[in-house]
Amino acid sequence: MQIVSSVATMQRLAQKWRRTDVRIGFVPTMGYLHAGHLSLVKRARQLVGKSGRVVASIYVNPTQFGPKEDLAKYPRDLKRDLKLLRELGVDVVFTPGDAEMYPGRAENRYSTYVVEETLSRSMEGASRPTHFRGVTTVVAKLFNIVLPDVSVFGQKDCQQAAIIQRMVADMNFPVRIIVAPTLRERDGLAMSSRNKYLDAEQRAQAVILFHALQAAKAAVAKKPVAAAQLKKDLREFITAAPLARLDYVELFDPETLQPVTQARRGTQMALAVFFGKTRLIDNARL
Ligand code: PAJ
Repeated sequence: MQIVSSVATMQRLAQKWRRTDVRIGFVPTMGYLHAGHLSLVKRARQLVGKSGRVVASIYVNPTQFGPKEDLAKYPRDLKRDLKLLRELGVDVVFTPGDAEMYPGRAENRYSTYVVEETLSRSMEGASRPTHFRGVTTVVAKLFNIVLPDVSVFGQKDCQQAAIIQRMVADMNFPVRIIVAPTLRERDGLAMSSRNKYLDAEQRAQAVILFHALQAAKAAVAKKPVAAAQLKKDLREFITAAPLARLDYVELFDPETLQPVTQARRGTQMALAVFFGKTRLIDNARL
């Protein structure tokens, strides 16, 4: 497994593969890998086969963190991440530094961003105003550096996946986007690098996100229900966990991300809940 931190080296490798028709599968991450990330890597390998190349990137992208968010504290363990990726037969890990990815940014000499203007406004975008601008920008840059044929994203971040798909369509990136299912802990909590921040009590209550999704599924199983009423019920349901502070719960169309007035089977639900300073998200198709 090759570890590459230079943009030029990564791009040269990718161009060489492309010239010889070697398929490139790509999984972008911010590291501190868990089984959810690894499932995306396995999927990438399936997609490109033995003769293809799988690239994973590990880069904690500063432009997608707000000024008061956890950029400096974001968990990192490169040594462990590399071991896990090596075991999975990843060909190249791309781990650039900030000076490689955003040269001159500290001196205000970095000035080009990619902005998706519709799907980015609600939910995560409303709570974290510059977040998706950072995500689309870094993913566009990574696509230009890694030149993937196919790139795998997690349903765990359903709004991010929808925005990346829109960006790829709107900007004509020659890459196929695959969205893979959310991996969960035994009690149902969605795996996340941020789960590490939770203390024992918070961890025990964090399963409320999953239980809220289950409750909503049950509520719409037989017949459609008014979204306003269901959201009110879900707010109360989440308040039952004393350490939980709800940021948002939304019921929306999975393609357009437009809120629905009637929630039914097939409606998408997403929610964000704070436990102390830790903000957890989850979502499901009802
Ligand atoms: P990160 O949070 O590290 O997630 C990397 C990828 O793993 C994303 O596609 C995410 O949806 C997926 N993922 C996270 N938890 C998962 C789970 N429990 N099951 C399955 N997949 C899961 O998302 C980012 O990084 C960044 O925004 C990035 C796309 C790398 C751009 O910086």
